[in-house]
Formats: sequence, C-alpha cells, structure tokens
Amino acid sequence: MRTTDPEQIDFRKKFELHDKVIVISGACGLIGRAFCEAAAQFGAHIVCADIPQADPEKFAQHLSERHGRKMIGFPLNVAIKTEVIALREKVLAEFGRIDGLVCGHQNKSHLKFEPFEDVSEDNWDTVVEINLRGTFLLCQVIGCYMAEQGKGSIINIPSTYSVVAPNQNLYAGTSLGCPAAYSASKGGIDALSRYLASYWAARNVRVNMITPHGVWNNHEKQFEENFARFSPMQRLSYNHEVAPALVYLLSDASSYVTGDNMLVEGGWTVW
Ligand SMILES: NC(=O)c1ccc[n+]([C@@H]2O[C@H](COP(=O)([O-])OP(=O)(O)OC[C@H]3O[C@@H](n4cnc5c(N)ncnc54)[C@H](O)[C@@H]3O)[C@@H](O)[C@H]2O)c1
Repeated sequence: MRTTDPEQIDFRKKFELHDKVIVISGACGLIGRAFCEAAAQFGAHIVCADIPQADPEKFAQHLSERHGRKMIGFPLNVAIKTEVIALREKVLAEFGRIDGLVCGHQNKSHLKFEPFEDVSEDNWDTVVEINLRGTFLLCQVIGCYMAEQGKGSIINIPSTYSVVAPNQNLYAGTSLGCPAAYSASKGGIDALSRYLASYWAARNVRVNMITPHGVWNNHEKQFEENFARFSPMQRLSYNHEVAPALVYLLSDASSYVTGDNMLVEGGWTVW
C-alpha cells in the first residue's frame, strides 16, 4: 500500500499465512516439525516432503487432524529431479498453487565424523548431492513456477558453519564433529540463495535463509557443556526458537526482505 500513515496498516495481519500453500522439505526432522507446526498455527496448508522412511504422509495426516485443514505428505528424494517435479505436480493438482518453499532437508551421514584427511569421495558426494543439489532442484522446479506466477517466498537453510568455521574445541571429549562437506554444501546453499534473490527479485520471488545453530536434541552432556562455554547465550537453542523466523520470512511481514540470512544462533558469530 502506498502510504506514509502506519495507522492504515494492520500489522498483525501481515504475519498471517492464512490459506497459503507451503512446501517444506525435511518436514519430519527436528527443525522441520517445528516449521510445519508454526506455519500451520498461522493458517497455512503444509506439504510435508521427506524421504519415505520418515513417513511424511503420516505426519501430514497428524497435522491435518490437529489443525482441521488440508495438509499432504509427499515421500521423495530431493536430489532426484523427476521426484521433485512429481512433488510440484502433486501440490498443484491438490491445491492449485504454491506460495512458499522451505528447503529444510539435510543429509545425516555428515554426523559420522571422518577426519578431513580420510573423507571418502562417496561421503563427500552424498552430502553435497542431498544438501546442495536437493536445494538447487527444489528452487529450480518450484521457484520457476513461482517466477511465472510473479510471487513466492523461498527459505533455504545454510548453517553457522557456512558463516564461520567450526570451533574444533567444541567437539573435545565428544563423538561429534562437523565435516568439511557439510560446511562446503551449506556455503553453496548460501551462495545459491543470494544468486536467486537477485535473479528473481524483479519477479517478486523473495529468497531468504535461516541459519539455526546448536538446536537441542538430547545431545551428549559434554557437548552441551562445551557449547555453553563458547556461546554468548551459554546454551543450546530449541527448534521452537528457530520456527518464528520462518513465519516472518514466509509472510507479508517481510515483503521488502530478500537475500537475507537470518541468524538464529544466539550470538555465536558476534565474537
Ligand atoms: N539442528 C541444528 O542444530 C542445525 C544447525 C544449523 C543448521 N541446521 C540445518 O537445519 C536443517 C534441519 O536440521 P534438523 O536438525 O531438523 O535435521 P534433521 O536431520 O532432524 O532433519 C532433516 C530431515 O531431512 C530429511 N532428508 C534427508 N535426506 C533427504 C532427502 N534426500 N530427501 C528429502 N528429505 C531428506 C530427513 O529424513 C529428515 O527428516 C538442515 O538443513 C540442517 O543442516 C541444523
């Protein structure tokens, strides 16, 4: 609206996702579940996309019953283009439109820490293929549809470890680690997101990022203690602390925001 008078604006309405159709990959994961619940609470229809083993259809049915609104699940591998195209076609057949895309998947094999000297090409390729190629394909297949429609919001998920390097002391005395392939794939997601933000800005498709950090998931005690020592806020975060950023970036509240990487990292990178 062309006005300088803020009283003409219903600011709460700007955050609504009422009847918007939002596709979320990695929907059944730790952060994905919080993304789905938060967007659903703000009125969205959620398309839960995840690998078959995660049973996204069952999760979508649960969300649908909980919110009394149509939600669908779609099993796929985001790294396979035909499956991503099938996802888009299914959503358009069921809802007739797609308003938002959230690329929240990740490959887990990076958690099996290999020292950099020993990283196998296979492990490298798997991480990059799923994290980066999967995000590329979702953006290409669904983002192109949005660009044709002249509207849409895409949110990709890089990592603190594409912003700064991992502090190796964080992992002392734990079985955890952060391999280079994870950082590299996330750096690619960051660069791709900025590229697309510029590429599609004039088509009214906004492309932003959310960078979570240290989201609590019953971590080893030693890891939690180490994390507290290196974090300005001295604690891990929770998935429900990440999800509100998604509501903002999906909604009209962020209508003039594109190419942004919203850091939800407790100040990890400020010192
Ligand atoms: N948890 C954290 O502390 C943290 C920190 C920074 C960034 N991130 C990022 O946030 C996102 C979500 O993280 P999370 O902790 O919820 O991860 P998670 O492992 O709990 O969930 C990831 C989901 O992706 C799905 N997935 C894996 N391979 C897939 C494929 N080929 N196709 C479709 N789906 C696939 C998994 O089944 C799973 O449900 C990831 O991109 C992750 O890298 C997480």
